[in-house]
Amino acid sequence: METFLSIRLTEMLQRRYRRRVPDVRVARPDECAADASRVIMDHLGSTDPVIGLATGRSTTALHRHLLSSHRAGRTDLGRATWVMLDEFVGIAPTDPRSFRNQLCRDFVTAFDAAATSLVGPDLGLVDPSAICTAFRSVASGLTPGVQVLGIGRNGHVGFNEPGSAADSGTRLVDLSASTLADLDPAEWPVHDRPARAVTRGIADIAAARTIVLLAFGTSKAGAIAAALNGPATADCPASLLRDHADLRVFVDRDAASLL
Ligand code: GLP
Repeated sequence: METFLSIRLTEMLQRRYRRRVPDVRVARPDECAADASRVIMDHLGSTDPVIGLATGRSTTALHRHLLSSHRAGRTDLGRATWVMLDEFVGIAPTDPRSFRNQLCRDFVTAFDAAATSLVGPDLGLVDPSAICTAFRSVASGLTPGVQVLGIGRNGHVGFNEPGSAADSGTRLVDLSASTLADLDPAEWPVHDRPARAVTRGIADIAAARTIVLLAFGTSKAGAIAAALNGPATADCPASLLRDHADLRVFVDRDAASLL
């Protein structure tokens, strides 16, 4: 039923907009995560695989699927170089809320105890410009075969906030009011919130051979509709990826409800 829905949805969008549209799969979140994990596992079979990782609730089930396949011997996560998409700046390297620490805790150290395969911003450099320059330099030679993305309610991908240009690269950004408002207040009390972040740019993301975009829940429905059906505009940075040659969108019915 869900597969039928996905095919119908892709065909419907294609007819309505008379152009190639991304592959949209509508299914339960866990099915989406399983399918997305297969895209990554396929890429893990290639030479020197590079995979771009996102952080956030949308990706936790994907990480779980990948880890269980690794433990069952169906894939070897240790073969890849894993590249972070973004990171807050202005927080300590030991801060458990950093994206690096979240990714290590939930995913990477389960197959790579020292997390040497995880490339990302080095918060130990402290100065935001130095963090950004070092990340840009280390990530420049690492174009992901698969880039995983979540999406913000305002259409951001990574920390490419509204206003981000299609040719933007790795850079320091100011977090938008809506992104700050979406931070969990239990984790990020108002007096203790980062104002800035470093992110790979839209052009870096678009360079990936395959992009996997995951979104679940009604709170993402507006962003998904704007990304796939609205104009391709910096106002909704995810829309700038819509014409990518291999964009695969995995959404549940709630996130697909405005398509
Ligand atoms: C943050 C991150 C994004 C992430 C997004 C969605 O803003 N910078 O990389 O994709 O949130 O997160 P979630 O999946 O928790 O909704």
